[in-house]
Amino acid sequence: MCLSREEWGRVYRRRPTLPHIIRTPGARAKYSSDRYYCPFRDIQELVVAPTSTQAGPAARLEGILPDVEIAILEPLIEEIEQLKGERNAVILAHNYMTPDIYHGVADIKGDSLALARLASDTPADVIVMAGVHFMAETAKIVNPQKTVLIPDLEAGCSLAESITPQDIRLLRERYPGVPVVTYVNTSAEVKAESDICCTSGNAVQVVESLGVDRVMFLPDQYLGRWVATQTEVEIIVWEGSCMVHERFTGAELRVYRDTHPGIQIIAHPECPPDVLEEADFVGSTAGMIRWLKTERPRAVVMVTECSMSDNVAAELPETEFTQPCNLCPHMKRITMAGIRDALRDMRFEVLVDPEVAVRARLAVERMLEVKI
Ligand code: 13P
Ligand code: SF4
Repeated sequence: MCLSREEWGRVYRRRPTLPHIIRTPGARAKYSSDRYYCPFRDIQELVVAPTSTQAGPAARLEGILPDVEIAILEPLIEEIEQLKGERNAVILAHNYMTPDIYHGVADIKGDSLALARLASDTPADVIVMAGVHFMAETAKIVNPQKTVLIPDLEAGCSLAESITPQDIRLLRERYPGVPVVTYVNTSAEVKAESDICCTSGNAVQVVESLGVDRVMFLPDQYLGRWVATQTEVEIIVWEGSCMVHERFTGAELRVYRDTHPGIQIIAHPECPPDVLEEADFVGSTAGMIRWLKTERPRAVVMVTECSMSDNVAAELPETEFTQPCNLCPHMKRITMAGIRDALRDMRFEVLVDPEVAVRARLAVERMLEVKI
């Protein structure tokens, strides 16, 4: 886990003393992300003395992050836990959160489908969405009476940006009577124009639940094309794509296969078709985690946002994870310091126009009724 320069400054100042550090040749911090400033990288070959186990909530990170990072995070984790209690708040975290958030402070973790379902079940007054904006909006749509916060309003999604309500109205004119299935990675306004929503975890079942020969599937062209390979229903796709998953290629995966005999490849259905053709398993983020926990492969390439491999690797130490590492810049806007600030200052509240929310809720609730 590494912090942005800004957070590092803040967290560092909160600690009166640094934990015990020994320089040992050959040892390195366990997790770091190239896009984030990592102060430990400036200390060559750093390792923390195998000191006593952590006390308190930071103990959840033991064995997942280096002890030095846990020690630095500890005051922040304690502050977040205290604020959660004071606000009667829960933290919902998507599987793409960094390990400090995912293992350290999240109350509920999962894919978009699980977060939508569990957001509607929580008795908490305040939901902090450690995920992107459409996820926070979905939580608000199913919980209009609750306060939903997102630590960074700029945490968007290339798919959500790719389509507007006006686009859907034009498509309906072009394909009269054809139902619109909308991926949850869309704005509340787009959901409000849709017949039903879906996620990557239930897309095939949602399409088939409509009992029609043809649907418009918006906005992810790759998820749409993958659904088309799994059903007899004709799929009309839009040209949206995920800026993270569209960068993977089948050619790079063939190199993994050729150089690592027996390695398993699992991929998210937002990937292009040549990638999915190389995959041994295709599924949502939660689907991939379930597959890994069932199959327990010796070695695996996870073709998705790479924080997820860090999160799952911590739970499956016997599996060797290879990460063709693409980070989602939107997901990575969510940080521990941002979560603390959200709870402390009750910011940034996600609001949905009530008239839009009523129509969007119908599309989300129809999705939640589909059995998978
Ligand atoms: P999941 O619903 O599979 O978690 O995917 C959400 C997402 O944004 C993937 O990029
Ligand atoms: Fe959107 Fe892709 Fe980021 Fe998921 S990974 S939030 S689909 S940009």
